[in-house]
Amino acid sequence: MPQERGAIVWFTGLSGAGKTTIARTVAERLQIANLKVEILDGDLIRQHLAKELGFSHADRIENVRRIGFVADLLGRNGVIVLVAAIAPHRAIREELKQNCEGFLEVYVNSPLEVCERRDVKGLYAKARSGLIPNFTGIDMAYEVPLAPDLECQTECETISQSTAKVLQKLVALGYISIDCRG
Ligand code: ADX
Repeated sequence: MPQERGAIVWFTGLSGAGKTTIARTVAERLQIANLKVEILDGDLIRQHLAKELGFSHADRIENVRRIGFVADLLGRNGVIVLVAAIAPHRAIREELKQNCEGFLEVYVNSPLEVCERRDVKGLYAKARSGLIPNFTGIDMAYEVPLAPDLECQTECETISQSTAKVLQKLVALGYISIDCRG
């Protein structure tokens, strides 16, 4: 069946919560099903589209707006867009939800202590020692989604469970029709 509607699946959550990991595994499953998919990852976007931006409140809003703009363009053309970006501010996420068709907010929820213990990129240690100011969860707040479309609790779910939940949600909402088992 040809894919008609795109969607924007925005994985929001702390650094190290598992946003990119889930986005990648979901992308693999969608690609296997021959669906059009694109990942917009905060780390990569910041090397290109948002190169000059930092991590102040204003710069993050601008970063998230730019990502939202590109995601919307792709989504309108039938692509399932998987965004992995912290987007710590509730208001801008709400703005995107209102303005972008097919926007799904997925809260990748992992307690700060767990993200900090994982410290995959070594950034929490640097933030704690004062080398990285405005670090989300340390000295800049992360505004928890109040009514996300989906929540993945990566502390107690496996990657494949989180992936299956996202795929099932996309199926339930009619964005895709694939077999989500396994
Ligand atoms: S957002 O807040 O503007 O949405 P984005 O997801 O693009 O953030 O970028 C977050 C990534 O930038 C983190 O995964 C981390 O690798 C890196 N980073 C560098 N400085 C910071 C910081 N102060 N706070 C959070 N992440 C940071």
